[in-house]
Amino acid sequence: MRKKIAAGNWKMHLTSDQAQALVSEVVNMYHNEYHGDAEVIFAPSYPFLSQIHHLVKDVDKVHLSAQNLHEAEQGAYTGEVSASQLTSVGVTHVIIGHSERRQYQQESNALLASKIDIALAHGLTPIYCIGETLEQREAGNTLDVIRTQMTDGCFHLDAEAFGKLIIAYEPVWAIGTGVTASPDQAQEVHAFIRQLIRDKYGAQVADDCSILYGGSVKPSNAAELFAMADIDGGLVGGAALKSRDFTDIIKAL
Ligand code: PGA
Repeated sequence: MRKKIAAGNWKMHLTSDQAQALVSEVVNMYHNEYHGDAEVIFAPSYPFLSQIHHLVKDVDKVHLSAQNLHEAEQGAYTGEVSASQLTSVGVTHVIIGHSERRQYQQESNALLASKIDIALAHGLTPIYCIGETLEQREAGNTLDVIRTQMTDGCFHLDAEAFGKLIIAYEPVWAIGTGVTASPDQAQEVHAFIRQLIRDKYGAQVADDCSILYGGSVKPSNAAELFAMADIDGGLVGGAALKSRDFTDIIKAL
């Protein structure tokens, strides 16, 4: 079933104390102020996963995500983290293919396909990120880029496996820039993504897939984005670092 989701991608921000304080504040506000059925996902840096797990493990509809994982089961990969290491500390979700990793670590669609495979093999829910750069948008290539990222990154899966994915559309030009895609711009791409899924896997799988929007989501624009037919929530960076803002974004769901 399609879920409404607010995911906070903290990137390389916060220290241990700050991370725990942020989660405690959001969980408190979520309980006191929100009575809907949206799910919340926190994606802290690796060192805090275990601590945050203890804070959220008994909280209904609140989940823990890593920001990345390695595609191998285990081995001599200094500095990397495996799927089984993540599940061993209570992680349930993992962001795969964030544009910052595509850009700075040269992660290709083919590599991301293997990361999705290892995540699924260990029961982790991938949050697979796709999105075009400003250059690609201005050249009129947005939908082609999206099609390739979907085809090469996750359309090798069978329908059952694909049904476990969360997709996040994040136009690169909107990430961390303060410039948000307009609701119509975002909806156009979300509808296209859902149509690609429909063509590949059929109507039921497409209708059930949660497709999140990311890129400068804030309390002031969340409601109008989330009101669009094919936008099922947000992958939030900067605004997820402030408990008041992130809670207000959850409430906009
Ligand atoms: P932002 O980041 O909300 O700060 O634009 C979103 C993301 O990178 O996931």
